Amino acid sequence: MSDSTSVFRPGLLAGQVAIITGGGTGIGFGIAELASALGAHVVLASRKPEHLAPAVEALTKAGGKASAEQVDVRDLDAVKAMVGRVADTHGRIDLLVNNAAGNFYVPSADMSPNAWRSVIEIDLFGTFHCSQSVYPVMAKQGGGRIISISMTLHYRGWPLMAHATAAKGGIDALTKTLAVEWAPQNIRVNAIAPGPIPTEGVRKAFAPPAGSGVADVFAAVEEKMAAHAKRTIPLGRWGTPRDIANMVAFLASPAGDWVTGGIFVIDGGEWLAKPGGWGTS
Ligand code: COA
Repeated sequence: MSDSTSVFRPGLLAGQVAIITGGGTGIGFGIAELASALGAHVVLASRKPEHLAPAVEALTKAGGKASAEQVDVRDLDAVKAMVGRVADTHGRIDLLVNNAAGNFYVPSADMSPNAWRSVIEIDLFGTFHCSQSVYPVMAKQGGGRIISISMTLHYRGWPLMAHATAAKGGIDALTKTLAVEWAPQNIRVNAIAPGPIPTEGVRKAFAPPAGSGVADVFAAVEEKMAAHAKRTIPLGRWGTPRDIANMVAFLASPAGDWVTGGIFVIDGGEWLAKPGGWGTS
């Protein structure tokens, strides 16, 4: 399989085995698409079979190598079992992308203990569970790459997202610690902090039902969104899953050999710009 839209050379990741949590949709699927286009076997690991099956079908139809593992990253035993199956089947694990995440807006004063726990457990515990589980496989084979998807919202504080910002701050800290601790095993540990990326899932969720007669309204919303991006994102557009996948491919390739402990912001300059201020007249 090759991808004429990719800037990377065909076969760049040939022979690699990559586990991508939450790889069935959104940014995770974008990463899976590029990694499989570059020759990796991608294992999509997520909770929802209804996301996994169509994603694997799409990747294999395009000529890539892909398989699915149903797992909840909050469950350490289940994660260990999943990693064991992948290692038994493929003999190695070169890349883990910790992409699975949960999120919703909720006032901190009203957040239930379970709401707090569910996001912290998916994002932070999940990242640690998966990283710890691939460690023995990567250490034994002489190295590997772990890339966690973080965010930029905790750099300046983001009301109504105490759980997610706390979890992603923890992921950043974990990235730096594991990078140093596991460098002797040649395991490179990095994170990517994406800016605003309206994924297909988000678009579908807000799309009007077919035949509802509100397509014009939707087009107007799209136009407004583009104008908003122009105003608030210095590089003038929303991000795409491919923007993030490109950094994953770079880090997973030999170009990333001497890169560890980094947190790479890929956001068109969004978080550096003054909230609501950049480009506004
Ligand atoms: N506002 C306030 N509380 C919320 C909430 C919201 N929008 N959504 C969920 N919660 C609370 C639930 O009420 C529950 O707490 P409770 O038991 O005290 O009522 C707790 O969070 C767990 O929610 P639940 O949906 O049962 O948990 P889950 O473990 O099955 O799933 C999520 C957790 C985060 C994946 C799920 O809430 C979800 O699907 N969120 C939106 C989609 C999403 O996050 N996608 C990823 C984008 S990064």
